[in-house]
Amino acid sequence: MKSEKREPEQYVDLGHSDIENHLKTQVALYEKRLKEGTAANKVAAFFATNLLGFAYHYLKSRFGPKAEYQFYPRNGDDGIYPIHSYTDTVTLALVSDWATDTPESDRIGGLIRDYDPDYTIHLGDIYFVGTPQEVADNFTNPDASWHFGKHGSLALSGNHEMYSNGTAYFKKLLPEMKIRKGHEVATQQAGFFCLENEHWRIIGLDTGYNSTNRPFLEVLFKPDCNLRKEQISWLKEVVKLGNPDDKRGIILLSHHPYFSSFRDDHPVVGRQLKEVFGAAERPVLWFWGHEHRLSFYNKYGFSDGIQAWGRCVGHGGMPVETDPPDRGHLGQLLFYDQRVRERIRRRDVGFNGFALLTINGPAIDINYIDQTNKTVIAERWKVDETGGLSSELLEIHPEVTKY
Ligand SMILES: [Fe+2]
Repeated sequence: MKSEKREPEQYVDLGHSDIENHLKTQVALYEKRLKEGTAANKVAAFFATNLLGFAYHYLKSRFGPKAEYQFYPRNGDDGIYPIHSYTDTVTLALVSDWATDTPESDRIGGLIRDYDPDYTIHLGDIYFVGTPQEVADNFTNPDASWHFGKHGSLALSGNHEMYSNGTAYFKKLLPEMKIRKGHEVATQQAGFFCLENEHWRIIGLDTGYNSTNRPFLEVLFKPDCNLRKEQISWLKEVVKLGNPDDKRGIILLSHHPYFSSFRDDHPVVGRQLKEVFGAAERPVLWFWGHEHRLSFYNKYGFSDGIQAWGRCVGHGGMPVETDPPDRGHLGQLLFYDQRVRERIRRRDVGFNGFALLTINGPAIDINYIDQTNKTVIAERWKVDETGGLSSELLEIHPEVTKY
């Protein structure tokens, strides 16, 4: 059975610093609804409050063991998928923090369907905590708005999937993620993967599995999201990222940001990748989500990590944040879509959206499209014969903030 449609109000302020005041307000609201309500809308009341709603689902789901980690080879699959297209170009839609089952996520899902890309990839976070019902509501029910790409869909895990120990992510969502592999149809077997053609390798990384550890403490003391050793071995031995003769352009996808001007950095992932690349290291283009905003960074890397141009596309389905940056890396922050769409609960909320990549030989055009179907930013990336990347800004909305 499909649960009641959610409203964006439920997600405003989720996990933010004014937690205490907000919790008080939500508890008061919840108690009032309990007094007035029937059994059915008591559950609705949990959904109608945001922080308490999250806390309830978190508490309900957080106990028990973490899902067993899945890695390649598994069921005969090695996690490498040759890119297919019926035309000379290949299109991929990247969307993150999308699975909220709100009118906004339906809108973005509908837009992606209209563009009908070859591949669609979710960069993680199914709200509130990635339960089987939430997977069904967003991805697999007949009226769910996830659009499956012509040649396949893949999904990364965020922290929210792991708040319910990852079970629904591994056992419900991944079995539905199908992708063409030559003449076969493969099923996603692990939380990481590589899509590739002669010019590009698009590598999805699992930073979600190690984004949780002990219940409760993890909310305050965040784990470092390091890549598990099985994933590192796969990157070294199967993907062979350290092969200096492979000059294809590297695009990374992950849920968690490598670095950020707004929230936590995750330097350990860049450090692990530096070790994997070895002498073959070169700067990469890296898409991530987790933060509910659209932001662009110039090339940066920690002294002991790889260099990357960061693109945060966490504006898929949650209320989009427009707060100013305050956590460093300001020298690297290039653009940030701070346009305000509406105010919800006295907070400014920005525009949801997704990234549409069009691969055309050694070039990739990337359009960042908002929920009104406008291009916010368009850029073109090219890979040269050394594996080096360069970019060109093609279009920018006049109201996007430039840093
Ligand atoms: Fe997240």
